[in-house]
Amino acid sequence: MSYLNKIILIKLGGSELDKPGLLDELGEEILRNRKYTFIIVHGGGKEITKELEKHNIKSKFIDGLRLTSAREINIIDEVITNKINSRIVSFWIKKGVPAIGLSGWKHNLFEVKPKEIKGHQAHFVGEIVSVNTSILLKYLERSWIPVISPISKNSIGFKYNVNADEAAVAIAASLSANKLIFISDVPGVIIKDKLIEKISVTEIDNLIKSGIVKDGMAVKLLSILKSIKSGVEEAIITNWSCPDVISKILRKEKVPLTLISGGVNEYSKST
Ligand SMILES: Nc1ncnc2c1ncn2[C@@H]1O[C@H](COP(=O)(O)OP(=O)(O)OP(=O)(O)O)[C@@H](O)[C@H]1O
Ligand SMILES: [Mg+2]
Repeated sequence: MSYLNKIILIKLGGSELDKPGLLDELGEEILRNRKYTFIIVHGGGKEITKELEKHNIKSKFIDGLRLTSAREINIIDEVITNKINSRIVSFWIKKGVPAIGLSGWKHNLFEVKPKEIKGHQAHFVGEIVSVNTSILLKYLERSWIPVISPISKNSIGFKYNVNADEAAVAIAASLSANKLIFISDVPGVIIKDKLIEKISVTEIDNLIKSGIVKDGMAVKLLSILKSIKSGVEEAIITNWSCPDVISKILRKEKVPLTLISGGVNEYSKST
């Protein structure tokens, strides 16, 4: 992938997305850092839960993953792809950001199989088996910024709900991204009300087994563990704490975050 600039994959969490000014400011950040290749993957957490409630469906989660029935998958796709993805892309296009909306399902970005959670098949929750990098590379080579909804399909075309963190790491690993930045509704991993600036991949299992990290954050850390094992250099969890948070991270300036890396910690060396 040497003909592409350094790849920065940003995973935008569903709840932080609604923060006033975020889309505008992130659009500016992308425009001001065009020497990097950006890819955006987004979730839809709270907006999906609200929409399901309108249909009298109570969301159920196991280990931070949303169980998804045949009825729910179409509602979830409607929210995440047709509403959220379209909202981000049309906002950025108006701003001059060359965004292209892609969905795992419509654009065959991933092949998934049904995911087992604690030995139970979780209906239409998918686990990514492979990433179709060629379609992504076509857009990246033409300087488009893919904005990706994680809804996917299996080998015979059934729609599956894929956790956005898992989609983000699968893409990051398959394209050997340089950095993976998770924008969440918390600035990182919090233990006893304290933000932990740095954790090693070797600590992840214990943090989850002890129950200190759970729900969506457990999914995030397990996904990060996988990505680092597959060669992603480092992952950062942060929130939208200032309008230029991405530039600050790229310049290795101090912002509230948790950094997870497999090797020598460049961030802590320079701060
Ligand atoms: N130790 C912990 N530190 C920080 N957050 C934690 C911890 N344990 C559990 N969490 C939960 O994890 C949540 C973040 O994951 P969540 O899946 O909700 O957000 P996201 O992945 O950013 O968004 P989306 O799922 O919509 O894409 C936090 O809001 C918090 O409730
Ligand atoms: Mg999540």
